[in-house]
Amino acid sequence: MLSRIMVDKRAAQSHRVGSNGSPSYENGLSLRLWCVEQKDRFLGRLREFFDAHDGKVSDKWRSYWPAYETVMRRFQKRAVRVLEIGVQNGGSLEIWSKYFPKAHHIIGCDIDTACGTLEFDADNISVVIGDAAEPETYERIDAICDSFDIIIDDGSHHCEHIISAFPHVFERLKVGGVYICEDLHSSYFDAMGGGLERPDSAWAFFRRLSDYVNLEHWHQPGQHETPMRFFEERYGLSLPIEMLAHVHEVRVVNSVCIVEKRAPEDNLLGPREMRGQVAAVNGAILENQDVTARECVQMTEADLRLPGKSIERVAHETHWEDIAADHQSNLLALRAEIEQMEIQHQKILDANAAAHQETLRENAVKIAQLDEDLEGCQSALVRADQVREALECALAEAQTTLERSQISQAAKLEHLETVRRDTQARLEAVQASLSWRVTTPLRRLANSLGRSR
Ligand SMILES: C[S@@+](CC[C@H](N)C(=O)[O-])C[C@H]1O[C@@H](n2cnc3c(N)ncnc32)[C@H](O)[C@@H]1O
Repeated sequence: MLSRIMVDKRAAQSHRVGSNGSPSYENGLSLRLWCVEQKDRFLGRLREFFDAHDGKVSDKWRSYWPAYETVMRRFQKRAVRVLEIGVQNGGSLEIWSKYFPKAHHIIGCDIDTACGTLEFDADNISVVIGDAAEPETYERIDAICDSFDIIIDDGSHHCEHIISAFPHVFERLKVGGVYICEDLHSSYFDAMGGGLERPDSAWAFFRRLSDYVNLEHWHQPGQHETPMRFFEERYGLSLPIEMLAHVHEVRVVNSVCIVEKRAPEDNLLGPREMRGQVAAVNGAILENQDVTARECVQMTEADLRLPGKSIERVAHETHWEDIAADHQSNLLALRAEIEQMEIQHQKILDANAAAHQETLRENAVKIAQLDEDLEGCQSALVRADQVREALECALAEAQTTLERSQISQAAKLEHLETVRRDTQARLEAVQASLSWRVTTPLRRLANSLGRSR
């Protein structure tokens, strides 16, 4: 590719664009180059694939496409293996599948189980459900494919998730492959674990990762202390130097970081090279022809000693100290507020207590009055009981007297009846007697005499 571009530059001078926009050819070489260009163009640009896409929805930012094109184009005609964290509607997986027509695997990983129900026409697309920050998710990904040419992180965009997923994905990135992290503007949002001065943001992590491009200039072979220790401890990760020695390039554009992986021996500065013969100002430099950086500049112990605390750790501690100080002053303000509230509260309590005391006193007077009334009622009740008892006795006595008089009246009546019957009997006996009958005319005479008088 490189040699083709170099030839291309030279050829550019030998072909001209005609008035109708097509090239005019001054020699056969430029025609051949134009044909190569057209053949390349035939596969199409990533942006064109995105614009022409009409299947499942894909969600990206406009400026990503030219940046992606620069690192993806070289894979376009290969049996590429692609892993994308973050599937959502599955549109980007369909676009990768079209852009890489010979792709071996296009794997999407998403935490949302709904993504598992997506169906794709292309049989090289598969979806793995799982959290990209968790190791067990990679066991499921490995079961399909365990090494990738291109890995894109378009998942949660939370700084912790991005950084936690990084060792898993970088380990699975092939030498020569590229890792792309999208939507890194999240690194400036507090809610996403970010902030401009946050030392533990994803952007801060990639900034620190860029030091590994220059590993040979600060690292002694065999030295295991690493400036990544802060991130390892902060997020519970392992970022061994052997792995990070593969960081060849860390490229950033707006919201995107692209990391290219190469073998550590391909990441060296290489020997110093000079061409030309005239060194009129500084001839001493010619002695450095073909020497390595280490041979050229003798590094001292001090150069190679890592500071006890990385800038991230210091910033992190300062950040938390600032936060703690903020909390402390908030706490003091709150305490003062609470004290004021307690004073107000006490005043209200005191006022309420006085009012309650007064009510209590009034109620006590009322109760005493009621007690007194109750006592009066009770003695009235006792007296009423006594009266009732006396009346009951009198009633019982009257009852007895009545009963007795009834009995004596009955006896008298019986006696009178007996007297009446005796008298009746005697009268009847008199009337039936002979003397009575003999004397009847005399009594009649006496009666008539008496009437005539
Ligand atoms: C921005 S969308 C992906 C868009 C898709 N790549 C595209 O271009 O159309 C982000 C997706 O990441 C998923 N996600 C969030 N956290 C995740 C995690 N920890 N691991 C895997 N996927 C995650 C969400 O469920 C969501 O579907």
